[in-house]
Amino acid sequence: MSSFTDKKIYAIAALDEKRGVGKDGALPWSFKKEMQYFKDTTTEVFEEGKQNMVIMGRSTWESLPEKYRPLPDRINVVLTRDRSYQASGAIVCYSLGEALKKADLDGTVETIYIVGGASVYEMALDVVDGLYITRIQKDYGCDAFFPEYETLCEPKPEFLGEEEEDGVKYGFYFYTKVLDDII
Ligand SMILES: NC(=O)c1ccc[n+]([C@@H]2O[C@H](COP(=O)([O-])OP(=O)(O)OC[C@H]3O[C@@H](n4cnc5c(N)ncnc54)[C@H](OP(=O)(O)O)[C@@H]3O)[C@@H](O)[C@H]2O)c1
Repeated sequence: MSSFTDKKIYAIAALDEKRGVGKDGALPWSFKKEMQYFKDTTTEVFEEGKQNMVIMGRSTWESLPEKYRPLPDRINVVLTRDRSYQASGAIVCYSLGEALKKADLDGTVETIYIVGGASVYEMALDVVDGLYITRIQKDYGCDAFFPEYETLCEPKPEFLGEEEEDGVKYGFYFYTKVLDDII
């Protein structure tokens, strides 16, 4: 758990067989049901009046078609080191810590989802409580990768379901992060 917030933090990502998450700045697949799963998981809240926060890197934000951003019914946070950057409809933060601190101070935020891309997943592994991973059974020759995560998690993930689209099978899993040793 993060020292910045008591709220739950989850990474959510779709990975190909080689842990690939993207190619040429975009997703190399297009799975409607996977997109719906992402939307449902990151949007669902249990307390009325609350919303979840989705945190993403500047490249991932720019990879979203303009008509789909900000992602609706979620508080969108875009990470950049560019102090003049503007993202219409989103909050711009200059570090992950700043974003988590904002979430902590905002009483309307329920859960925090780290939604990519590769560079943001890499640093987020330190702070997440768990990971929603879609495992796609195909190699897409990606150039952006999710970090090694299985050794940081409890060995048996929770299996949440499976789908097949365009002849490709994929499964939904939840991995619980193993708590750091308390000395
Ligand atoms: N499969 C999936 O589930 C999934 C999900 C999301 C994205 N993706 C894919 O991932 C790829 C993009 O990943 P990426 O690693 O190239 O880009 P990214 O993580 O989306 O964005 C990188 C940018 O975020 C900013 N940033 C990163 N770390 C920061 C920090 N510590 N503090 C402040 N700003 C920070 C920087 O922006 P500035 O350069 O502006 O400073 C950096 O250039 C694409 O192919 C996309 O389609 C896949």
